[in-house]
Amino acid sequence: MVRFLMNNEPVEIQVRDPNMTVLAFLRERMKKTGTKEGCAAGDCGACTVVVGSLSNDNQDISYHTVNSCIALMSALHGKQLITVEDLTRGNKLHPVQSALVEHHGSQCGFCTPGFVMSAFSLYHSTTKPRREDVVNALSGNLCRCTGYRPIIDATLQACEHPKTDQFDDNKTSTIRALIALNEERENAVEPCLHMPENRKALRDFIQCYPDAPLVAGSTDLALEITQQHRRFSRLISVAQVRELKRVERTTKLLTLGAALPITKAMGEITRDYPTLRELFTRFASLPVRNQATLGGNVANASPIGDAPPLLLALDANLRLDDGDTVRSVRARDFFTGYRATLLKKNEWIDAIELPLPRSNQRLAAYKVSKRMEDDISAVCAVFNAIIENHTVIELKAGFGGVAATPAICQQLESSIAGCDWRDKATLEAGKAVLENAFTPIDDVRASANYRKQLVVNLWHRFWLEHQCEEKITTRVVQHA
Ligand SMILES: Cc1cc2nc3c(=O)[nH]c(=O)nc-3n(C[C@H](O)[C@H](O)[C@H](O)COP(=O)(O)OP(=O)(O)OC[C@H]3O[C@@H](n4cnc5c(N)ncnc54)[C@H](O)[C@@H]3O)c2cc1C
Ligand code: FES
Ligand code: FES
Repeated sequence: MVRFLMNNEPVEIQVRDPNMTVLAFLRERMKKTGTKEGCAAGDCGACTVVVGSLSNDNQDISYHTVNSCIALMSALHGKQLITVEDLTRGNKLHPVQSALVEHHGSQCGFCTPGFVMSAFSLYHSTTKPRREDVVNALSGNLCRCTGYRPIIDATLQACEHPKTDQFDDNKTSTIRALIALNEERENAVEPCLHMPENRKALRDFIQCYPDAPLVAGSTDLALEITQQHRRFSRLISVAQVRELKRVERTTKLLTLGAALPITKAMGEITRDYPTLRELFTRFASLPVRNQATLGGNVANASPIGDAPPLLLALDANLRLDDGDTVRSVRARDFFTGYRATLLKKNEWIDAIELPLPRSNQRLAAYKVSKRMEDDISAVCAVFNAIIENHTVIELKAGFGGVAATPAICQQLESSIAGCDWRDKATLEAGKAVLENAFTPIDDVRASANYRKQLVVNLWHRFWLEHQCEEKITTRVVQHA
């Protein structure tokens, strides 16, 4: 039974079809048609809804946007679902809606409910947003007719001077209702969409249903349902498993549970590597990042995923678990072929272990894509060098978009180690290696030649940008 609040009403839904998206539930089952369907692929934002979650101390609610077209019902378990219909109070528009009217922020109106929900989420997340915060909040919403300036202006104005709304007024009772829902959460009662809450329960489901795919944020898996019309007869969600949402820090290591959403993982990683923020804010859009998990990004082994090149360059470890034993493998050994990994059938990714910054470290992540917001990489390159007294002690690099798997270039790493970083010959040696290191493919994102050239140029950029700096820098994401 999936239990959640529809606005303020507790509901229990027996999910008989694990393929049902939140959008289908809203529009087809509840006949709530304010939430629109545009692309059904997480790209346009017409289907944006807001999900409210209890804070860890049960004292507050945080609101985040989700693309309902690629969210499965498990995403709602123990949460509050807010749709555009819930924003008006009687006949009175919500302040974000009034601001859109005042700024002429809507024409045909198809995108408007999605923009309203993204603006509403920001309204409740920050008091003094900067324009770039607004752009980030709206990064998953496309409008084909109005133009973005009036929408951005409206959102900025509404969020700069937030007034108390019904969600603030009802907060205490909503928190109480969410606590009650979460106390009643059960394992194993759904017939075909299983939501185990701990490691042992996950192991039992996998043993019982070895052919059932795992799902986390469903931002990849749901595309198989909505774009390829695949029907799953059973799914096992890892998103509720407590152990998979942990964050642990030692002096040397940051351990991130695999089911942490990218937004949360990004918050943790950028505490230690602040300028990696640019890479993560270029990862999809805010609603996708709120839903997608770090573990899902690694497990799907896409050659154009953005986390794998970073994990390769940092020489991160992955903890793989079968419920009885955990083994640790280097991210560098994990990707074995096109979308193939070391994961055994009964295993899952438990956590990702990232080394914390070292002295004299220079780290840079470069993502090149056709669009700035919400676009997959044509090439992603991450370089990580330890340089002491101008000598390269160690270089590690990770690349996406250049091979069938996320890739490393051992020849680059071994030929640069020991070199004088200031010496132009070091730059040229790297260029010579990288010119012939990969045989990428031509596709809609970039030609093979363009990708090959990019790898060389990004190395050149890394070398140039890190000539003068003595200390760690983590910088710069590029836009094609
Ligand atoms: C509009 C859009 C834009 C996107 N942009 C980007 C982008 O810019 N950069 C980028 O890298 N990606 C992007 N993606 C891809 C996607 O968001 C990521 O790959 C995401 O991190 C996948 O995580 P998930 O939790 O949604 O995975 P899911 O879809 O739930 O699962 C994906 C796969 O991983 C497996 N899996 C999930 N968790 C585990 C686990 N713990 N152990 C073992 N297997 C597991 C599942 O079985 C499934 O095979 C985008 C997707 C969309 C829809
Ligand atoms: S319908 Fe386009 S993002 Fe969901
Ligand atoms: S107002 Fe028409 S798509 Fe935005």
